[in-house]
Amino acid sequence: PAGMLVDARGRPLRDLRISVTDRCNFRCSYCMPKEVFNSEYTWLPHSALLSFEEITRLATRFVGLGVQKLRLTGGEPLLRKGLETLVAQLALLRTPDGQALDITLTTNGSLLARKAAALKAAGLNRVTVSLDGLDDATFRAMNDVDFPVADVLAGIEAARAAGLGPVKVNMVVKRGTNDDQILPMARHFRGTGIVLRFIEYMDVGATNGWRMDEVLPSAEVVQRLQSEFALVPLQASAPGETAERWGYAGADGRHDPALGEVGFISSVTQAFCGDCNRARLSMDGKLFLCLFAGQGYDLRALLRDDVRGGVDDAQLDAAIAAIWQGRSDRYSELRASLPADVQQAVRRVEMSYIGG
Ligand code: GTP
Ligand code: 5AD
Ligand code: SF4
Ligand code: SF4
Repeated sequence: PAGMLVDARGRPLRDLRISVTDRCNFRCSYCMPKEVFNSEYTWLPHSALLSFEEITRLATRFVGLGVQKLRLTGGEPLLRKGLETLVAQLALLRTPDGQALDITLTTNGSLLARKAAALKAAGLNRVTVSLDGLDDATFRAMNDVDFPVADVLAGIEAARAAGLGPVKVNMVVKRGTNDDQILPMARHFRGTGIVLRFIEYMDVGATNGWRMDEVLPSAEVVQRLQSEFALVPLQASAPGETAERWGYAGADGRHDPALGEVGFISSVTQAFCGDCNRARLSMDGKLFLCLFAGQGYDLRALLRDDVRGGVDDAQLDAAIAAIWQGRSDRYSELRASLPADVQQAVRRVEMSYIGG
């Protein structure tokens, strides 16, 4: 439509990922390694965090500018007290043509069994749970806080039972660490209605010591699955989607919906920046235009401007629109062409700060 907001590469703004806390109760080495995120680490004080009212005000502006999907992230979003209150506020928002939003949450699942029903009642539509393996010892080592896998599985089951579906499960695959969990995970979730997605280990942040030789390309994951299951490629369900979808085939060689599907998020080997429509808002109110951006735009400063008493909604809209119009980020596409030393030197924000 005329006047539709697009960035410098013609990409619309559709998806807003809102990080609500910088804290997490896990220490996955690919995200919050213990050596860095320890008792010496300085967390944000509560006063630095956007209040639920500030988040809702900003989300309202973004929805007016084209956003149709909201995703709450962290750190671990369920550590933010009273999160269902925020969900309830966001659930009241409508797009300019009157549609409700798709409101989702990415969580490590540790607190989900306790919170799933309240989140659903508040208006949350779906959840995605991170789970890197089924073997208890492997999982405890990956979360690095000795958290048992059974509790996350109970969280997934509670989400499904509460109607927070289709539930998705994200598995970050690290070669040599949990790639032996690929087939057990596929067997476990096949035919359950839960969508398992394999994620290539990414070079986000500056603390996880990322190395290309620990990335298992999705093409290899597909091959391993095909050694046991018949898979057929499926159409993307939305433009700009992160995951490539494959369906389990039945005896006739066609996708059998009862067996379900798997997804592959291949930011390293097959970048998907071309129609990336995602903006990211940090817990302290900075707007990031790419997962790999070095810095964000301080929207909180506009909201809390002491001198001018804070900007009005029209000024906020204009500021956000101007930022989006100037966006040309496409880090994953460029990564391949960057020399390794330059690639290492790019300043990047931490994953736990921006919510993935
Ligand atoms: P769905 O709406 O359920 O498809 O969720 P999603 O895939 O958009 O979000 P989720 O939080 O489940 O993220 C899955 C993985 O994709 C995580 O590892 C994210 O860091 C990664 N991811 C999400 N968005 C982007 C993106 O824009 N660029 C890159 N490179 N990775 C992304
Ligand atoms: N590479 C790929 N995915 C990652 N995640 C966290 N760190 C990384 C990384 N370095 C995933 C989490 C979660 C999602 C938001 O991002 O496991 O599922
Ligand atoms: Fe926490 Fe998720 Fe990061 Fe693991 S990946 S440390 S669960 S925020
Ligand atoms: Fe979007 Fe940046 Fe991810 Fe590319 S690397 S898909 S531009 S967030």
